[in-house]
Amino acid sequence: MSILIKNGRVITAAEDYVADIYIEGETISAIGKNLPIQADAVIDASGKLVFPGGIDPHVHLSMPFMGTFSSDTYETGTRAALFGGTTTVIDFVLQKQGHSLKDALADWNSRARGTAVGDYSFHMAVTDFNEDSKAEIKDMVENEGITSFKTFMAYKGALMINDSQMVGLMQEVKKQGGMVTVHATNGDMIDYLIAKHRSEGKLAPLYHYLSQPEVTEAEASCRFTDLADYTGCPGYIVHMTCEGALNGVRNATRRNQKVFAETCIQYLILDASLYEKDFEGAKWVMSPPLREKKDQQALWAGINQGLVQVVATDHCPFMWEQKLMGRDDFSKIPNGHPAIENRMELLYSEGVGKGKITLNKYVEVACTNPAKIFGMFPRKGTIGIGSDADIVIFDPEEKHALSAKTHHMNVDYSGYEGWELTGKVKTVLLRGTVAVDDNQCLIDKGYGQFIKRKKVNGTI
Ligand code: URP
Ligand code: ZN
Ligand code: ZN
Repeated sequence: MSILIKNGRVITAAEDYVADIYIEGETISAIGKNLPIQADAVIDASGKLVFPGGIDPHVHLSMPFMGTFSSDTYETGTRAALFGGTTTVIDFVLQKQGHSLKDALADWNSRARGTAVGDYSFHMAVTDFNEDSKAEIKDMVENEGITSFKTFMAYKGALMINDSQMVGLMQEVKKQGGMVTVHATNGDMIDYLIAKHRSEGKLAPLYHYLSQPEVTEAEASCRFTDLADYTGCPGYIVHMTCEGALNGVRNATRRNQKVFAETCIQYLILDASLYEKDFEGAKWVMSPPLREKKDQQALWAGINQGLVQVVATDHCPFMWEQKLMGRDDFSKIPNGHPAIENRMELLYSEGVGKGKITLNKYVEVACTNPAKIFGMFPRKGTIGIGSDADIVIFDPEEKHALSAKTHHMNVDYSGYEGWELTGKVKTVLLRGTVAVDDNQCLIDKGYGQFIKRKKVNGTI
């Protein structure tokens, strides 16, 4: 099967030009002006933007967490991602403490294989670093194509590792050619503040926010950065939310070490005033919590200064019924928020549309950098000859509103209900097949492939 996309405005991280794109099978085989080629199908992209499929390197699908499971499966989550212009996601396999990495991988494979609609890959979350799990790192990198290892400096008793485990893991991961990523917040301090608020009868969602002040994230981000510098291991901080963490990392990385930072769309456009809405604030109970307007400004600036390289989602949806588990106690509200479908359109409308970032920066942080940082470039993350034909055709003028009534995520509320956006995903191709067109998904569950990733060295 061949497809010719004609006359689109092609945007990559570095370029902006009008051209035709010729696709044969799963990959792009020619790009040029007025290509003199016949194809099985022609798509007219005149007046539209054409950019690489988005990559969301931080999602949680069917994730067991806080006594329940995130409500999007690999089927519903990756399909919703496609509707929003994201063609590849990276989820987190969670090692169970006392069990092996291999067992955890088998568990996640059983959820994803034959179920995913869009392409996916895995980070391995190491929650119990010991001699046995240390011995498994090489196999993950060499044979499984899993080259990033996630750590949690919070969620003690479930996911958190201590600093000695962190240093040991970094040394092994560096040796094997991988990267350590981190949820960087000070778990002990947060647990102290949660206990204090609960003992004082302060149980509303607002106290979730007040239990995770900026210092908890700034301190842990700097500690992580220092340990990464000491070990020489490439590092990546997930879901950075605040000025304190950003400035800490800016200072620490004057040593020219290899540390990347990711923020998520919600931290750029939502703020902590939402926690004042009584229990409705549970919709935005996530960790770290939303911050202040000054943090949004710092993060947009961090993107433009190249200190924040990725905008992800940390998509971790829960039905309202699940959020109600914490009606009488904020510490029991499952942490997480839905955005896998909304990231590309929100970032375009709020970022490019409002003049905060350029179109090239948009593609860089939403598509290209995640592919480069996590070892999928140039197969994914760009429009180039030989790359997978993962392509979004986007109308930059179309206005539409976000709503739980129309979204495709398996969650019964939207964190952005009624938001008016300019710019809409029209057609999405995944590996040369039209996956979404005219608000319809045209591919079935099982089409999504696991993407094995290459070794990474902390440079892009
Ligand atoms: O609130 C969040 N972020 N839930 C998902 C787990 C995590 O910490 O990323
Ligand atoms: Zn996290
Ligand atoms: Zn997460």
